[in-house]
Parts: sequence; C-alpha cells; structure tokens
Amino acid sequence: MSYNNIISEEHNGITTITINRPKKLNALNLETIKELHDAFDDANQDRNTKVIIVTGSGEKAFVAGADISEFANFDVNEGKQLAAKGQELLFNFIENLSKPVIAAVNGFALGGGLELAMSCHFRVASDNAKLGLPEVSLGVIPGYGGTQRLPQLVGKGRAMELIMTAGMIDANQALNYGLVNHVTTQEELIPLCEKIAFKISRNSSVAISAAIRAINANFKDGVNGFQTEIKEFGNCFGTEDFEEGTTAFLEKRKADFPGR
Ligand code: COA
Repeated sequence: MSYNNIISEEHNGITTITINRPKKLNALNLETIKELHDAFDDANQDRNTKVIIVTGSGEKAFVAGADISEFANFDVNEGKQLAAKGQELLFNFIENLSKPVIAAVNGFALGGGLELAMSCHFRVASDNAKLGLPEVSLGVIPGYGGTQRLPQLVGKGRAMELIMTAGMIDANQALNYGLVNHVTTQEELIPLCEKIAFKISRNSSVAISAAIRAINANFKDGVNGFQTEIKEFGNCFGTEDFEEGTTAFLEKRKADFPGR
C-alpha cells in the first residue's frame, strides 16, 4: 500500500513504520492517523511480521504532537470527536494489537507524539529525545489517552507535574521515570530496537499475543486481570506453539514455532 505521510517496510520479520512529515516535525494530522491505522492493521495481519517498530523521520522529531493547525477552530463537539476517533483508530488500536510494537523515540515526542509512544508496548529513546505533554500550554488537555497512560507508566505525582507544567523531560529523565526502557545514541536507536525485536521474534508469537492481552487486562476497568491470565494461560495449552516449545525443551533443541 502507498501512503502520503508514512513509510512502512518489512525486513527480516520486522515492520518499521516511519512517520514522514519531517518539515512539520511529523505532527499527526488526521490523514496520518488514518494511514497509521492502516499500516498497523496490515502489519498485524502480515504473516511475515513478528514485531513492529514505529519511529519518526529526520533527526529532530519522533512526533511533535497532534497537528495544531487542524483543530485550532474546533468547537466542543468537534473536540470530543477528535479525541474519540483518534483513540479508537490509533492509540487504543496499537495498545491492543496482537503483535509487539516498539516505539523508537528519535527526538521530540510531545503531546500526541508521546501519547503515540505510550500506546506502544514499550519505548526506546535516543539521547536527543525530549518528551512531554504540553497541551495545557495551548488551553487543552491530552486527548489521545495521555492522562491515563502517563500515570500508569510513571505514577500519578510525576504525571500531574509533567502535565501541569507542560514541561519536557530529556531521555535520561524518561529512563529514570520508567517511561522508556533504554537510552542510546541516535545511530544506535534502530539497531538496538531491531536487536530487541529479533530476540522477541524467536519466541512463540501466539504466547506473546496472549501475554499482551493478559498484561493489558490489568489496566482495563471492570476486568479481572488474574482471571484473564488464567484463561489465556489455559488457552496456550491448546496451541501448536506450546507443543513445539515443550517438546523442543525436552529434546534439548531450539524450538521452531509454527505461530499457531
Ligand atoms: N502541529 C502542527 N505543526 C507543528 C507542530 C504541531 N504539533 N509542531 C511543529 N510544527 C511545525 C511548525 O509549525 C513548523 O512549521 P513551519 O515551518 O511551517 O512554520 C515546523 O513544524 C517546525 O517547527 P518549529 O517550531 O519551527 O521548530 P523548533 O525547533 O523551533 O521547535 C518544538 C520545536 C517541538 C519545540 C515546537 O515545534 C513546538 O512547540 N511544537 C508544538 C508542540 C506541542 O505543543 N505539541 C502538542 C500539540 S497538542
């Protein structure tokens, strides 16, 4: 599929999706959000893809936020629609994807950009990254899940401070907060993400999907995560991957998972 605002490429089981509006610091307009939805959907269904990496093009930004020029004149209902549609189409969609998604944060990750990174299953940053939710400086609040996912990741007090001050933290502070898992140089960012992705891709994709559902259940209202874990754990026993994984262990060889 061809896109106007993103590039999606599969190589050795890894699909890398690059947001490609560097002149606008990769700001998320509606068309980009729709294209990202399609690219994530395609990669999720692609049998070759084991792991997805999302990053921004250029050396300056991952994503500098939702495209402010698109919503500056919106009214109350349009504002609600913008948040609801975006959450459904992209942010909740990524979080609930069955394949692992790594955010390679290569520069500014602000507003919708940090919200995008937080929707991914985990984050790796380059040392020039700057992260924040500056929406209150525009008279609005984060609307793509930022008020929910930031406290989940860094704790309520830190989230309150970061959102209230509209400030930015650097990559090392983000590492200290647990907002990103690793910090590396700009050159090493994608190679490190690929190294982690290869490690993931050697494991059972069926079990990884089950683990994503079970972990996410911990953060869903009205859902008992322990019950979800019991159900997902049990279901693993009916998969070919489980049969292969346990047989390979007992035969002292490396498992070759069929992904079923
Ligand atoms: N929406 C729309 N356009 C954006 C944007 C956004 N969120 N962030 C950056 N851009 C555009 C700028 O308008 C500028 O476009 P122009 O060249 O046509 O004028 C271009 O990207 C480059 O940005 P610029 O501000 O010149 O770069 P900078 O290095 O001086 O500053 C930032 C970088 C990230 C500090 C600054 O762009 C910024 O504050 N962006 C908005 C961040 C924000 O509030 N995000 C939350 C939105 S809800």
